[in-house]
Amino acid sequence: MSNGLVSGQAVSEITYIHIHECDHFSIGIFCFPAGRTFPLHDHPGMTVLSKLLYGSLYVKAYDWVRDENSSPRTNGLAGTVIDGIFNAPCEPTVLFPRSGGNIHSFTALAPCAILDVLSPPYSDDYGRPSTYFLDHPIPSLPGYALLEEREIKLQYDLVVTGAPYLGPPLDIAEEEEDVC
Ligand SMILES: [Fe+2]
Repeated sequence: MSNGLVSGQAVSEITYIHIHECDHFSIGIFCFPAGRTFPLHDHPGMTVLSKLLYGSLYVKAYDWVRDENSSPRTNGLAGTVIDGIFNAPCEPTVLFPRSGGNIHSFTALAPCAILDVLSPPYSDDYGRPSTYFLDHPIPSLPGYALLEEREIKLQYDLVVTGAPYLGPPLDIAEEEEDVC
């Protein structure tokens, strides 16, 4: 990064810099070397703000095709919401529990970093696990795909290393921390 916290050119694996987590939200930065893909995954019941900090990124994002009252799914028909390239500087994107491309994948076209704010954060205990998917495009139905849950073994199928956050401390007021 330009401020010297992490050299995007230097990471050889997807690298996660954890900044903050409480019950209500989490903040972190993913750094990608060129060519690396973070596979298709969902964000159950979550709102996520993503900001490409530098570099170039191919994003594919889907939302489930379902009626309003159906429960979360792990297999089925999904509609394409994003299928394109982002080059920094660009506007942040926001996804919601049922819209905005809740299921997405990232492929770094050049070394890049993404600031991610998740609210609420992932939690197995509260029914918000991360599920991974394969997408099968439907030739006769452009813009749609069948998504199929897949098993991902972390650090084997998907390698993510950690790096410390070395930036300024977050200014979180005590009362906000109590809420967190
Ligand atoms: Fe994500």
